[in-house]
Amino acid sequence: MRNRNALALLALLVGCAGGEPAETKPVETAEPVVEAPKEEPKPEAKVDLAAMPEAERVAWLMKRGEEVYKTGGTGGVACSSCHQETGMGVPGAFPPLVGQKDLMGDCVHHAGLVVHGLSGEITVNGEKFNGAMPAQGNLPDEEIAAVITYARNSWGNAFGNCLPEDVAKARGLPAPVLK
Ligand code: HEC
Repeated sequence: MRNRNALALLALLVGCAGGEPAETKPVETAEPVVEAPKEEPKPEAKVDLAAMPEAERVAWLMKRGEEVYKTGGTGGVACSSCHQETGMGVPGAFPPLVGQKDLMGDCVHHAGLVVHGLSGEITVNGEKFNGAMPAQGNLPDEEIAAVITYARNSWGNAFGNCLPEDVAKARGLPAPVLK
């Protein structure tokens, strides 16, 4: 009995406040609750690599690196489309990434090749190449760190792991020159 009175009073108050019939009110106020977020956040966008234990970080870099190598990541060109999934490249067109410790250099130098691209004559395993690798500085630091870590540690390569801060440094330096 008391509840019914209270409900009736509430309905009256709501009705008066809105100046509309009481029944339409609850439907209107319930709507925003079911609204879904418009854009899904990218899972790779925010990852705190510095806070991860070493083993977990390397595993993340290798996994993400393989994806970027084979797909181009978020807006790049797949490295595999030129250097092949085997890292062996294509004779006369695209140089191999296998066994190229000196050409890759340290992480900052290696990141610079991806950030700035590369052109001009170079010699790889005694074979001359004179092509053009597109600059892919549009990729986020994490993806570039991942893809170079993957290339440095695949197909028998074992040239060490890289970090997003290596990529950040490379962005502030001139394009590396290879011979
Ligand atoms: C459109 C083709 C193309 C794509 C995509 C490409 N490269 Fe290259 N890359 C080249 C060419 C061509 C050269 C040699 C450039 C020259 O002759 O000066 C080269 C050179 C290199 C070199 C130095 C030479 C060597 O043999 O080690 C590295 C390292 C390298 N690329 C890594 C990468 C990575 C990592 C990616 C993916 C992020 C990538 N490239 C994507 C074409 C490509």
